[in-house]
Parts: sequence; C-alpha cells; structure tokens
Amino acid sequence: MFVRASVLLGLAALCIYLFVTAPPPLEEEGAVEASVPIEEAFAVLARENDVARTLWTREIVGAGKKVGLSFAEDWEDDGVDAGPLPALFLKETSRQLNRKPAPLALFLGSDAPIVEGNRFEGQQAEEFAELRATGDPQFFLDPELGMQTAMFPDVAGADACVTCHNAHVDSPRDDWARGDVMGATTWTYPEATVSLDRLVELMDVYRECTRLAYERYLAKAATFEEPPPVGDRWPREGERVLPSADVFMEEIERSVSRDTVASLIGLVRSRR
Ligand code: HEC
Repeated sequence: MFVRASVLLGLAALCIYLFVTAPPPLEEEGAVEASVPIEEAFAVLARENDVARTLWTREIVGAGKKVGLSFAEDWEDDGVDAGPLPALFLKETSRQLNRKPAPLALFLGSDAPIVEGNRFEGQQAEEFAELRATGDPQFFLDPELGMQTAMFPDVAGADACVTCHNAHVDSPRDDWARGDVMGATTWTYPEATVSLDRLVELMDVYRECTRLAYERYLAKAATFEEPPPVGDRWPREGERVLPSADVFMEEIERSVSRDTVASLIGLVRSRR
C-alpha cells in the first residue's frame, strides 16, 4: 500500500546512495547490516510521531473546530458527535500498537496528569524529572519493565493545550504556560539494538497504527447526525469536511520522508 511503498522508496534512495555514491566498503563486509542503537531508532519514530500529532492537533482539531467539528474526552461514547483530543489520538495509536506483534509501545505520561493512569512511576518518574530539568530526551533501561525506554518532551505548543489543561477539573495544575513541558511521549522496546530492516518494519507498523487511529475517527464521524464528507479536502479550506485516510497519511509522509531518509542514510554512514 501507499505507506509501505513510500518506505520502500526511502529505502530505494538509501540503496542508490549506498551503491552509487558511497565509498567502496572497507574491510568489514556487511557493515551495513550492523545494528542501529535503539536510541536512534526511537528518535526516528519520535519524529514521525511529532509530525502526526501536530497534523492531528492543527489540521483536524484546530481547523476542524472552526468549521463546526467537535473533539472531546468522551468521543467514543454513543451519541457524542466528536473526535479524540490530541492526547486521545495518541492513545488510540498506542492501543493499535499494542495489538501488533511487534513489541513496540508508546505512552504519553506526565508528572501532573489529568488522568491518574497517565502519571509516570518508578524509574520513569525519575527520568522525567531529569527531562523536565534539562529539556533533553532521556534514554534508559527501565529496570522494572526490563525495557529500553526513550522519553521525548511533549511541549505546550499551542494556547489550546494550556487553556484546556488549566481549566480541567481533574488537572492538578492550573498554571501551565505556553512552551512548558507538559509530559513526555515514551517509547519502549525490549532490544538495545535493531537491524535497519527491523527499524523500517517498526516504522511501517507505527504508520499503520496512525492510519488505524485516523480510520477509527473517520468511522465515528460517519455516524454523526451530520456526517462530514470525506475526500481530498481539509477543514482549513473553510468547509466541514475531512481528508480521507490516504490523504491524511500522504501529508504525514510528505513532511517526514525526507528527514527520515536522511537519518537512515546518516545511520548507515556512521556505521560504515
Ligand atoms: C480540549 C482539552 C485538551 C486540549 C486542547 C489538550 N489536552 Fe492534553 N489532555 C486532555 C485530557 C482530557 C487528557 C487526558 C486524556 C486521557 O488519557 O484520557 C489529556 C492528556 C494529556 C497528557 C497526558 C497526561 C495527562 O494530563 O493525563 C499530556 C502530556 C497532554 N495532554 C498534553 C497536551 C498538549 C501538549 C496539548 C496541546 C498540543 C494538549 N494536551 C491539548 C485535554 C486536552
């Protein structure tokens, strides 16, 4: 399908680079097969996730509200004509990931969460304190989970993040400000290294789960009292419409493919 094809396109670019422009391999044949540290794999996935999250927040939630679409905590309930809030879109992606055989997991947590189940605990709480102090992503082996873990800051990038959290009855804080680190997207995976093949596979799985999360929203929207037309137009065009899953995913691809291919090339180059 489109997603997989474009990852292949990326790989094609990589191969062209390797075979056409790369210097001849040194002594160690098969250096390209060498493994990628999980930190770098997480960083590639995290960038994809950032793009998906921003697209959802800006183009579907932000622009959607202006044309009469709603987004709510109870979006899944019958009779609620709404879609998922940004954190809930990520939660949906994460739920889809849990159903896949790949042992990759994604969690959005915080030290001051609206929902208690989103509170970091144990080693993750300590590492998050460090992230909050420094603003830097954290990478560690979680001793309790036995999982390689990466945390990337989730920053209040829009006024809506701040106003909604500050006003929420279950929020332990009412003083969030624009630019604050509100939480961390947290990835776990059992191995400390992955092959490039495996990394591409994980990217495919992640993209498929983003698509499934979006398709769940489209399925819900189809049940609205007034279902929005679905096609190649976006709410930012001023009408109560939604992009199809293909159009939504193509937009993500457009934003990330170049960066992702560049970092794959960087990974290969650094291992030669
Ligand atoms: C309209 C309200 C609303 C907006 C806008 C909103 N959030 Fe949330 N956010 C929530 C709710 C409700 C939850 C709890 C969702 C759950 O897990 O059930 C949540 C969860 C979170 C969490 C997990 C920790 C917690 O509080 O439970 C983080 C981190 C977070 N949001 C950050 C953000 C950021 C960053 C933005 C802006 C890009 C944002 N939120 C926009 C309502 C909102």
